[in-house]
Formats: sequence, structure tokens, C-alpha cells
Amino acid sequence: VITKIKARQILDSRGIPTVEVDLYTNKGMFRAASPSDTAPGMYDTLELRDGGNEKYIGKGVSKAVKNINEKISEALVGMDPILQSQIDQAMIDLDKTENKSELDANAMLAVSIAVCKAGAAEKEIPLYEYIGDLAGKSNPVLPVPFITLISGGKHAGNYLAAQEIMILPIGANTFEEAMEMGSETYHHLKTVITEKYGSIGCNVGEDGGFAPDISSFTEALDMVKEAINRTGYGSRIQLALDVAATDFCIGNKYDLDFKSPDKSGQNFKTGEDMVEIYTQLCRDYSIVSMEEPFNKDDWEHTKLFSSNGVCQVAGDELLMSNPKRIERAIHEQTCNALLLKVNQIGTITETIEVVKQVKDASWGVIVSHRCGETEDSFIADLAVGLGTGQIKAGAPCRGERLSKYNQLLRIEEELGDQAVYAGENWRRGF
Ligand code: PGA
Ligand code: ZN
Repeated sequence: VITKIKARQILDSRGIPTVEVDLYTNKGMFRAASPSDTAPGMYDTLELRDGGNEKYIGKGVSKAVKNINEKISEALVGMDPILQSQIDQAMIDLDKTENKSELDANAMLAVSIAVCKAGAAEKEIPLYEYIGDLAGKSNPVLPVPFITLISGGKHAGNYLAAQEIMILPIGANTFEEAMEMGSETYHHLKTVITEKYGSIGCNVGEDGGFAPDISSFTEALDMVKEAINRTGYGSRIQLALDVAATDFCIGNKYDLDFKSPDKSGQNFKTGEDMVEIYTQLCRDYSIVSMEEPFNKDDWEHTKLFSSNGVCQVAGDELLMSNPKRIERAIHEQTCNALLLKVNQIGTITETIEVVKQVKDASWGVIVSHRCGETEDSFIADLAVGLGTGQIKAGAPCRGERLSKYNQLLRIEEELGDQAVYAGENWRRGF
């Protein structure tokens, strides 16, 4: 049984407070931390920040910590950690709000993850296997990593509008080989950038991608292509983008110059223009996955682009991992993949339900990190256990990103002969 729950405030990868929990059972102590958002309050689930201007410039999470140490702890101590869905439901009932604003979604998530880890220990099986069991699924699959090579958007200081240029080593035979291919390409890219922009071009963004002084999609993609050429991997590596277009949509136009100080207004594009630009980019650079290509409420152009069928189209802010928005997108065929951010949902049980919902619609699922990450590697086990076939965890550098990728290396090693890498089947992992 759960004997004690103790939460504390820790710092995420950006130096901003987030929630960590230590949950005790007769089997030991189980620790979990929640990632955090770039734009708290934007999603349906809310992040509870302390406010004010003094401590951590208002971004402290002491109220969320208090909620865990008092209300949640009182409700859960004495429960059996293998009762994941009952425990998650107990927190949902305690919270009572639709967007988890009473207890805080990040507080609930950290507890839910710690319970999951404790449940696996209780059953004496690996975490990924336990998650598979909770989902009624038995075949673990090592996901294809979406490895960030170039950062832009709100994650970096350059003038590139798109947030992330990523590579997918789909032609690797194992996850380990995928990371080798990703790391080699990352380092070749460093050389390519240094040749063109000098060493200053190799500064990195918030998820570890290089952030050279570029402002166009094609400059970024050309350099990544050149890096891939130098590795000799050819089409064994494919490209993906997270445009995060919500961040540069003004009115109903897309401002590709949104970060440049001398905005000339020359680079405003309509939704139709963007559909054309993306379709051309997919053809020219064989991009296989595009995330958030339009504003979160631009259902129309997202659908128009998806219906082209040129690549996987994943909804991030469009869907907010929210079952109601997902239902609408499935019904209207707006996109065909979900970017899954567990802290937008708040519990493991609801996460499993959402994955079932989109799986039934034959969608893809990209398990995703957040901009503000911690050393908790839970999403690695989640991706394997649910067999999503896809994970996005940033660059092959920086500890908070590598904690996920390195855990996947360990899982593959543990599975030995039983290990299956999604590879060419990345879109349909399960
Ligand atoms: P975010 O970035 O945490 O800033 O939302 C992650 C993503 O967009 O994939
Ligand atoms: Zn995104």
C-alpha cells in the first residue's frame, strides 16, 4: 500500500519551478516529476503558479506542492498502487474541475506517474511492460525517435519561424542504431553550420537543437540535408518539422518574420499560401511528418493540408491532448496524428484512454517531451509500453532530453531478442 507521499518544488531544464513527488510503498520510494509548459494557461489544463513578483518571478509551484502534501496525500495513503485507474479517478473526483485547475494537472500527473512506477514494482515487472498491461496491450515496441537538429520558433533566439527541424532514423535496424545515426548527423550538422556561420552558429535552443542565424525553412532544411549527405545514410533518415504555427499566427495570417526586430510585413502568408509552401517543402525535402502546421484554431487549413496526403499531420495545440478536440478532429478528418503531452492530460489512465481513442481512428501517436523538462524518463517507458512507434524528445544532447533516449537504450538492451524497433512502421507502431 501507499504509505506516504511527499512533494517538493524542483527546477526544470529552463530553470523554472516544477513539481516532483516521492511516493512510498512497502516496496520502496518511487520518484516522478512533471514537465512544464512554455505558455501556461493556454491549454485546457492549467498550470497552477504561485503568482506575485518575488519568488521565482511568480512561477513558483508551492500551491501545487501543498495540494499534493495535504489533499492528495490524505486521499491516497492506504490505497494499493496497482489500482491505477481508481487512484487517478480519486484525484479527478477530488479536483472536481474540468481542466484540473483545483489541484493542478502537473501535481496530479507527477503523483499518477509515481503511482504507475510503484505499481510496476509491486508486480515486479518493468515499467514499460506494466504500462502495456494497464492498456491491455502486450507487445512492447521501441519507437522511432524524432531527433531535433535545429531549433527556432519560441525555443530559440534566431529568426527561424518554425520551432523544430527533426530527423527520423526510420531505416535503422535497432533503436541503438537510430541514436547512433542521429548523433552522427547532429555532429556533421555542427560542422556544416560552423563552415557557414562560424562557431557562434552552434549555440543551441531550449531542446538542444542548433540555432544558427537563419530565418527560412529552406536554409535550415538544406543544412540538415547536407549533414545527412555527409553521413551517407541517404533515405534511411527522413525529415520532420514541428512548425508550432500558433506562435506566429496573427489574425488569420502567418508571420514568418515574427521574431525579426525590423518587421517589414513582407512575410505575411495566408493559410492557402502556407498549404502550398508546406506541400512544396514535403516534396522537395521528403518531409514525412509535420506538426502544428497552422494555428491551433485553424481547423480549415490543417484539414486542407492533411487531405493532400503528403505526410503525417500531427496536432499539438490544435488538439491539446483533449478528448473533445480529438473527437472533433477525427470526425472532421482534420489531421491524422496526435502529439501526446502527458501533462496536458494529467493522469496515466486518461493518457491510455486518449491513445486508444486515436488508435481506433488509425491515427499516429507521437509521445512528446515538453520544452521545460526534467530528468524523469517516464515517457520513454510510456512510448514502449503503448507501442506508439514514435517519440519526440529533443536533440541527442542535454541531460533532460537524453534521460528519455538513454532509457530507451536500456529498455532495448533488457528486451534483448524480444526487442522490436518500429522503423519503417513508425506511423502504425501498434
Ligand atoms: P512546448 O514544446 O513544451 O513548448 O509546447 C513542445 C512541442 O511543441 O512539441
Ligand atoms: Zn509542438
